[in-house]
Amino acid sequence: MDSKLKKLASLIKSKDAKVIFFVGAGISTNCGIPDFRSPKTGLYSNLQKLNLPFPEAVFDINYFKRNPKAFYTLAEEMYPGKYLPSKFHYFIRLCQEKKILKRCYTQNIDALERVAGVHEDYIVEAHGSFAKIHCIKCHTEMDSVTWKKLMKKGIPRCQKCKSYVKPDIVFFGESLPAKFFDLWEKDSKDDFTVAIVAGTSLEVYPFAVLPSEISSKTTRVLINREICADFEDCPRKSDLVMLADCDHAVNKLVDLLGWQDDLEILIEEGKKLIESPATFTLEDSYTTDKKKKTSEAEKTARALAKKVAEVEKVATPGKDDTSVDELIKGIEKIDIKSVRAKK
Ligand code: OAD
Repeated sequence: MDSKLKKLASLIKSKDAKVIFFVGAGISTNCGIPDFRSPKTGLYSNLQKLNLPFPEAVFDINYFKRNPKAFYTLAEEMYPGKYLPSKFHYFIRLCQEKKILKRCYTQNIDALERVAGVHEDYIVEAHGSFAKIHCIKCHTEMDSVTWKKLMKKGIPRCQKCKSYVKPDIVFFGESLPAKFFDLWEKDSKDDFTVAIVAGTSLEVYPFAVLPSEISSKTTRVLINREICADFEDCPRKSDLVMLADCDHAVNKLVDLLGWQDDLEILIEEGKKLIESPATFTLEDSYTTDKKKKTSEAEKTARALAKKVAEVEKVATPGKDDTSVDELIKGIEKIDIKSVRAKK
């Protein structure tokens, strides 16, 4: 693995490097979230209690229409905000800071890329997210506060037509978001320095074909516990396949790049925000609700954003009337070097 990591490090360090990621549940297992298909530990092998006809039924739209209980049994547990990002998530963020990140296609609905501070312009949540909730029949939107309140009493129903509502997670049988197709139309024509595929079995389509459609001028990298899909069936000579734990590989990679301190700073600053009592980062990165109460997390965010504003002269996030959205923008502008210099 070491020689492949060295090669990867030299590509990342090359002039005008452009990095694109394709990731799945395996980048979040170190956060404590099970993946789907790993034998024994994967979600699908642990769903007996839900009495499903087949494990994927929990995310199947036709099954949901008849029996939404299975999904709702998991929904509360899966709702983002309970877990901290992994080193791998912060490595994606670090690529953004280094201005080499071009895109991150993720199959995950845990939103940990957002929580790590990756800007939404770079993220394609191919399988949707919990950001919005809609009625499956009349498509009326329900706000997340009402949804969570109703969930405590049973299965939430549309307040207009009484049909079931569900978050905009892409279920089997549903179409992927337009953003996925629009951006892939563009990205599939581009040449990247490296395409890093990590923590995915590449079993779900159309996501699974993306690495095979990436330009032949791009070096493909697989960081995963097992070999999969195109890397096995149609390997390219230039592929770098590393069968390893994602975070373990990132540890070694940042060592080679000389980016250890930068990664640690991002992780520390991120922890300060997220470990505050409220689930500030995620909820507010999803919502434009201006009437949020000032939570401890928000105070931390304001302090941090103010520090960033001083250093970088960005916006005016220290003001009390600044919206949380603006604060997030400020936080996303953290310049590692200046924060380090101030320490
Ligand atoms: P899978 O569970 O199918 O695959 C996860 C992959 O990550 C497996 O190959 C594991 O070996 C590997 N893995 C797990 N932990 C790892 C670690 N720490 N380091 C390296 N590799 C690790 O998950 P996905 O490919 O993401 O759909 O599944 C795709 C889709 O199937 C999901 O988005 C989900 C599911 O049905 C929806 O939620 C709608």
